[in-house]
Amino acid sequence: MHSFWWLLGVLHHVIWVATMLITSQAMPPPPPIQCDASTGCNLSNSYGVWGDRTDCHVPSAAHPQTEEDLRLAVAFASKNKIKIKVVSKFSHTIPKLACPDMSFGDAMLISTANVNSTIEIDAANLAVTVDAGVGLRQLIDKVEEAGLSLVAAPYWEGVSVGGLISTGAHGSSWRGRGGAVHDHVIGLNLVVPANQSEGYAKVLRLDSKDEIFKAAKVSLGLLGIISKVKLRLEPAFKRSIAYNFTDDAQIEDIYMDHAQKYEFGDITWYPSKHTAAYRYDNRLPLTASGDGTYDFLGFQSNSVVVSKTIRLTVRAHFLASLQASKFYGLALLIEKTIDSGRSSIGKCTLASTVLEAKKLVANGLKNNLIFTGYPVVGHQGKMQTSGSCLYSAGTDKSCAWDPRINGLFFYETTAIFPASKFADFIRDVKKLRDLKPENFCGVDIYNGFLIRFIRVSDAYLGQQENSVVVDFNYYRADDASTPRFNQDVWEEVEQLAFFKHGAKPHWAKNRNAAFLDVQKKYPNFNKFLGVKRRLDPQNILSSEWSDEILSGKEGAKRDGCALEGLCVCSEDRHCSPAKGYFCKPGLVYKEARVCRYSSSPSSVGSESYKTDALFD
Ligand SMILES: Cc1cc2nc3c(=O)[nH]c(=O)nc-3n(C[C@H](O)[C@H](O)[C@H](O)COP(=O)(O)OP(=O)(O)OC[C@H]3O[C@@H](n4cnc5c(N)ncnc54)[C@H](O)[C@@H]3O)c2cc1C
Ligand SMILES: *[C@@H]1O[C@H](CO)[C@@H](O)[C@H](O)[C@H]1NC(C)=O
Ligand SMILES: *[C@@H]1O[C@H](CO)[C@@H](O)[C@H](O)[C@H]1NC(C)=O
Ligand SMILES: *[C@@H]1O[C@H](CO)[C@@H](O)[C@H](O)[C@H]1NC(C)=O
Ligand SMILES: *[C@@H]1O[C@H](CO)[C@@H](O)[C@H](O)[C@H]1NC(C)=O
Repeated sequence: MHSFWWLLGVLHHVIWVATMLITSQAMPPPPPIQCDASTGCNLSNSYGVWGDRTDCHVPSAAHPQTEEDLRLAVAFASKNKIKIKVVSKFSHTIPKLACPDMSFGDAMLISTANVNSTIEIDAANLAVTVDAGVGLRQLIDKVEEAGLSLVAAPYWEGVSVGGLISTGAHGSSWRGRGGAVHDHVIGLNLVVPANQSEGYAKVLRLDSKDEIFKAAKVSLGLLGIISKVKLRLEPAFKRSIAYNFTDDAQIEDIYMDHAQKYEFGDITWYPSKHTAAYRYDNRLPLTASGDGTYDFLGFQSNSVVVSKTIRLTVRAHFLASLQASKFYGLALLIEKTIDSGRSSIGKCTLASTVLEAKKLVANGLKNNLIFTGYPVVGHQGKMQTSGSCLYSAGTDKSCAWDPRINGLFFYETTAIFPASKFADFIRDVKKLRDLKPENFCGVDIYNGFLIRFIRVSDAYLGQQENSVVVDFNYYRADDASTPRFNQDVWEEVEQLAFFKHGAKPHWAKNRNAAFLDVQKKYPNFNKFLGVKRRLDPQNILSSEWSDEILSGKEGAKRDGCALEGLCVCSEDRHCSPAKGYFCKPGLVYKEARVCRYSSSPSSVGSESYKTDALFD
């Protein structure tokens, strides 16, 4: 009965949210660089995590079209000692890596939005050479048209080829060359600063014979600007995907077998529901029948939410007949309202509903226009990567996180573990979960813990051994100084991953705290820095923000810094004592220091803890 009344309450919000959406004018994402003659340019991130909410103002931006234009832009910067950063037309990376430094005078953005005219397929040699600004979807479609397939790609298609390899983006696979796209790169052109006699900038044409290639495959835009990328392809193939939503009891015993048995397998873990969804995912020959698609639910547009709302109002109490996908986006929007109430009940009800919804629609897998049953078989080009919210035209349609609709605002933590060490992390998280499963409802409303697999790589900033990557999203308040209910749980999981179990942070995601001591985790880090010094001796490609990530040093500990993950708390003032959040030890990992809600002040925070010991 409780949940019925609760649902009615939700419906109230639903109608309100729907009205908001209908009256808003959301559209495909706007260009991340906005310029005008008097104020210069602003760069924003697609989520609005910086840009609108934390500014990146730059006097000017260049929009070159060709490799030679790119070279001229870099030459201009190098000659005049202007700080530069390169950014794609998507700007989907969470850390502020693409914002140039303004503290030394002049700065300039170089966009690859128009460096997108060629996709050259070499069918005989199973390779494609593509301009760095080309979008992943354009590339995949072109390759598939030629009867070929790109084997590895991230699940999200709203990224450029240059941007995705630069941050180590990946899908999931331990087979062949593995799930990380940069391990399928066989050549690239890199535009780097040069001295006067060389015209201030030059194009390096790199392949596996060059030592620099290992640094350039994953380079965070720090070495130069990639103008072209050459990728290995395979003859076109199909995939067969089925989900098994089952008990989560044995994840830590099964994950290795799972990765070995299924070429593209992954696992989504919903801790509060004691549920794991194993993705059984293998390749099939092109002759297999099936023309399915994977239109991942989380990447469908908000319009879906609105039309769903209308249905919801009609059939409120027939939960089973809900069309899951629409409820899903909606549920996430409602979380904002619930979080401030400090109650798990609402979140847990939502988490159950969302999970049921996902089962009903198989996470967005479609045999044809809809999901009719497992397995879903389709072309590689339609099964690996999606992002239908990017193309929705008209009003009230956009990706759920679009800042213009004041949509979802969340953190994304992505931790990369050596394969064998991942089991211990899972065991610790289970201990934390078992203390109070409701604490994990918040993460289950999003996508639980998404567990994927990537192979050993020779890239200096890639993985040293076969690895397991885990991603999870959690609620973030619009206002940086507002604590989040249960934030102590996410901070403890974060510290378990990065400090206790030594995981490495994904370069394109995470909060600053995850990057503490990152240099020590990469044995080839100094080789990377050596190449950086050689190629960019004036350091024009660095900024205070990329240095912060790269150096892995904790910044100044300001009041409230732990709330946004800018520091790990060591005193109450790093949390929000005024709002009842104090610095406390972890529940399972005692060395962790987290901001926890409490009706009485802290015993830990009153002493000054030396957290440095944690990172040694
Ligand atoms: C909804 C969503 C889902 C995602 N899913 C996945 C996933 O499944 N797997 C995964 O691994 N990642 C995932 N990501 C992360 C995403 O792959 C990375 O953020 C990627 O780097 C974004 O590419 P971009 O073109 O937007 O790059 P940008 O954000 O524009 O740039 C990223 C970095 O690369 C540099 N850069 C860009 N272009 C060039 C160039 N031509 N030469 C040199 N440096 C360059 C920039 O300076 C910056 O440092 C996801 C992101 C989102 C928003
Ligand atoms: C950039 O941001 C500033 C501050 O928010 C604003 O005043 C200015 O109009 C913006 N410029 C553009 C071109 O959007
Ligand atoms: C390149 O990008 C522009 C927009 O930035 C787009 O209009 C154009 O179609 C793209 N070119 C190709 C070849 O896809
Ligand atoms: C310019 O660079 C080239 C190649 O690195 C080098 O051989 C040459 O000596 C340099 N010239 C100057 C003036 O530094
Ligand atoms: C689902 O996974 C569980 C746990 O591995 C297994 O016991 C069960 O047989 C699987 N079900 C199907 C239909 O594959």
